[in-house]
Amino acid sequence: MRLKEIVSRTRSYRRFEEAQRFEYSTLEALVDLARLSASGANRQPLKYLIYNSPEDCSRIFPSIVWAAYLKDWDGPVQGERPSGYIIILGDKTISEGFGFDPGIAAQSIMLGATEAGYGGCMIASIRREILREELRIPERFEILLILSLGKPLEKVVIEEIRNGDVKYWRDAEAIHHVPKRSLEELIIKL
Ligand SMILES: Cc1cc2nc3c(=O)[nH]c(=O)nc-3n(C[C@H](O)[C@H](O)[C@H](O)COP(=O)(O)O)c2cc1C
Repeated sequence: MRLKEIVSRTRSYRRFEEAQRFEYSTLEALVDLARLSASGANRQPLKYLIYNSPEDCSRIFPSIVWAAYLKDWDGPVQGERPSGYIIILGDKTISEGFGFDPGIAAQSIMLGATEAGYGGCMIASIRREILREELRIPERFEILLILSLGKPLEKVVIEEIRNGDVKYWRDAEAIHHVPKRSLEELIIKL
């Protein structure tokens, strides 16, 4: 796959074939892509938690807030939930702030997931204290992002923005539509 195809296919997927499990080594290889990515002042303050067992996945799931724009959807049902998670933490003993690093690391991981035939969704709306307690995450780590991963079950299509509305939607066939602004709108000429 060319890079544009990988980027285009790297959509936010929120429904998965839950029975298709991850090898731990697959998730570890994705974290290695984050390891090789850029970091402000090269401080590399991010740390990662990897989970692939059904038991661990069911401990993480309740801490996720899914798809705020889909008002009548409470998140994936059993059988369609993520089968792996990578949680990105910021190590406060290395740096007080984490700047752009989590986003860069997350995108490297998501691109790698696409290349490997998987997909997922970055999650920043996290019930952080519930998650911290459940996984016993020490206070020295800030919980930055959850990457929920699996074999995507849903189709996601990119749409042109209409009337400036950025809200994604799902149609009667459960196809997920994501509006993107045009290149002409993004590149400004002063
Ligand atoms: C930093 C970040 C945080 C996000 N947090 C959530 C979240 O908490 N819950 C969720 O369902 N989606 C979350 N998303 C997914 C966005 O809703 C998604 O990227 C957006 O709708 C565009 O869709 P696309 O990723 O397919 O381009 C997040 C995305 C990013 C980049």
